[in-house]
Amino acid sequence: MLKVVILGAGNVASHLCKAFVASKEVSVVQVYHRNKKSLHFFPTEVDTTTCLLDIKDADIYIIAIADDAIKPFSKGLPITKKLVVHTSGSKAMNKLSNTNRKGVFYPLQTFSKKKAIDFSEIPICLEAENETDLKLLKKLGDAISKNVQIVNSEKRAKLHLAAVFVNNFVNYLYQVGSDLLLEDSLSFDLLKPLIKETAAKIETLKPTDCQTGPAKRNDLKTIENHLHLLEDSPYRDLYQKLTKAIQQNYNHG
Ligand SMILES: NC(=O)c1ccc[n+]([C@@H]2O[C@H](COP(=O)([O-])OP(=O)(O)OC[C@H]3O[C@@H](n4cnc5c(N)ncnc54)[C@H](OP(=O)(O)O)[C@@H]3O)[C@@H](O)[C@H]2O)c1
Repeated sequence: MLKVVILGAGNVASHLCKAFVASKEVSVVQVYHRNKKSLHFFPTEVDTTTCLLDIKDADIYIIAIADDAIKPFSKGLPITKKLVVHTSGSKAMNKLSNTNRKGVFYPLQTFSKKKAIDFSEIPICLEAENETDLKLLKKLGDAISKNVQIVNSEKRAKLHLAAVFVNNFVNYLYQVGSDLLLEDSLSFDLLKPLIKETAAKIETLKPTDCQTGPAKRNDLKTIENHLHLLEDSPYRDLYQKLTKAIQQNYNHG
């Protein structure tokens, strides 16, 4: 049984904890967080603490806190020579303190506390300083996912950048769509089948083969009408930039 301590109580910490508790190969011996309130959301059978000096012995310590806090937090850990990993897509492994063995356990997915998720399909990107630690992390990843990969810090940063485009930016565009519909009291639900099909298409087609719409067809009158509808809108500039990018992609620029 792999013993794990989770450090942090946000989206990733809570989902990882749930997945580990459900697995037979991992024991979450403790969850640490700097404030008590956030720890109430963790399963009652898991020990919790708000005091770093009380953290228990474990095989792996998982830091799942805000990116910019990882470096100073890892420096302040009262343990030495243990395997300490972070869960960030963008931070290099060497941001972790030298006082412990370093690693990365990056689940490539979007996590929100309020949305349940099936961990078995989530790619988990691993990195460690040596083969033994990599094996340990592989065991941990295999306990919750069917898709565990070894990815170094440089490649992981690129993966994270791509993830920001396909997830964060796309989600922002959902919000834009929702706002535009709201102006005419139309429901966002009307767009959901379209959103689902857009995502489903890339299971079988390349992104370049999926594109449709006025920019791809170079339907200039339709684009003009859209810009007219966006005359006083904060989204006009965004529409123009994205339209231009698509036009150039299909040699209309
Ligand atoms: N969410 C995702 O979709 C996702 C996916 C993959 C990887 N990740 C990575 O996972 C890590 C955690 O992300 P998250 O989304 O779970 O974050 P989150 O829900 O925003 O939670 C961040 C946690 O970090 C804590 N924190 C912030 N500054 C701290 C400090 N100086 N010392 C101690 N704790 C501190 C916060 O504590 P308070 O509540 O007290 O402020 C909070 O519990 C990040 O490295 C992120 O890049 C996130």
